[in-house]
Amino acid sequence: MANGSYETVKIERDSGPNAGLTWVILNRPEKRNAMSPQLHFDMCDVLNELESDVQTRLLVLTGAGEAWCAGQDLKLYFRELDNKPAERARAAWASHYWRWQKLFTYPKPTIAMVNGFCFGGGFTQLIACDFAIAAEDAKFGLSEVNWGILPGGFVSKALTDALPLRDAVWLAMTGETFDGKMAEKIRLVNKAVPRDKLREETIALAQRLLKLNPEVLRATKIAVKNVRSVPHEQAADYLQAKSQEMRFQDKEGGRAKGMSQFLDDKSYRPGFGPYARTAEQKA
Ligand code: ACO
Repeated sequence: MANGSYETVKIERDSGPNAGLTWVILNRPEKRNAMSPQLHFDMCDVLNELESDVQTRLLVLTGAGEAWCAGQDLKLYFRELDNKPAERARAAWASHYWRWQKLFTYPKPTIAMVNGFCFGGGFTQLIACDFAIAAEDAKFGLSEVNWGILPGGFVSKALTDALPLRDAVWLAMTGETFDGKMAEKIRLVNKAVPRDKLREETIALAQRLLKLNPEVLRATKIAVKNVRSVPHEQAADYLQAKSQEMRFQDKEGGRAKGMSQFLDDKSYRPGFGPYARTAEQKA
């Protein structure tokens, strides 16, 4: 359901010092947050709703209960749709739309907070998020090979974009499980922290990002992510155009403010932190 409550996803908006942070919680804990067609439809609506929600300036994607996401629902997404091509196509479209098309260049910062199991199809949204912080004891695995399929959907592509080929092939072909510490070591996540610090670390990162100019963050994310697959000359041209677009879109006038604070007021050093965005910050 758009603009409201969802069958398989919970939304929680923080207030006070964390205002702007919205938690998006996959909410099928009894099925380890495996992704049913309904969950895909709900997540399409959730991301569309939050994109224009003024209370939401940053998303944290996490899971209810013991799991982050146990991959596609083997019963509801696979077996039950085997002989229903139209329903399969609709679910597959929704699955790709929210986990990659929408999430990879979402206009607000996104953090994956990996609180537990992350298997198979769950890797797609993990890699699509801008940041990932995992519990050290979270369990990861490309389990597809264990029961007779390959990492399809978009998993193999997301995986090989994110990891060196050696690691990607190893994980996909062995199907072995690994923990959050290993996920950090191979750079599948930014960092792994003890479970009791997971929320705190995630909020600390969110607070840092919430202090920055949102338009500049949006443009930076899109530029860095999109430029990877563009040839050099077009990349230079694209970045030039993106910079112009950002200055036009940035109603705060961040560039001029930052320059004036550094060059005229001598009140700050861009090497060490963000410029003062408001009069209160400046005082
Ligand atoms: N699809 C459908 N149901 C699932 C899935 C899934 N991917 N994962 C868990 N469930 C269900 C179980 O069937 C079980 O349901 P039931 O209570 O009706 O029997 C319930 O969730 C709890 O699962 P358990 O296995 O009892 O929980 P446990 O904590 O012992 O293990 C684990 C969790 C490791 C995640 C295990 O359930 C598992 O291996 N799941 C499959 C993970 C997987 O291979 N995912 C990739 C799918 S393929 C893809 O995404 C492309």
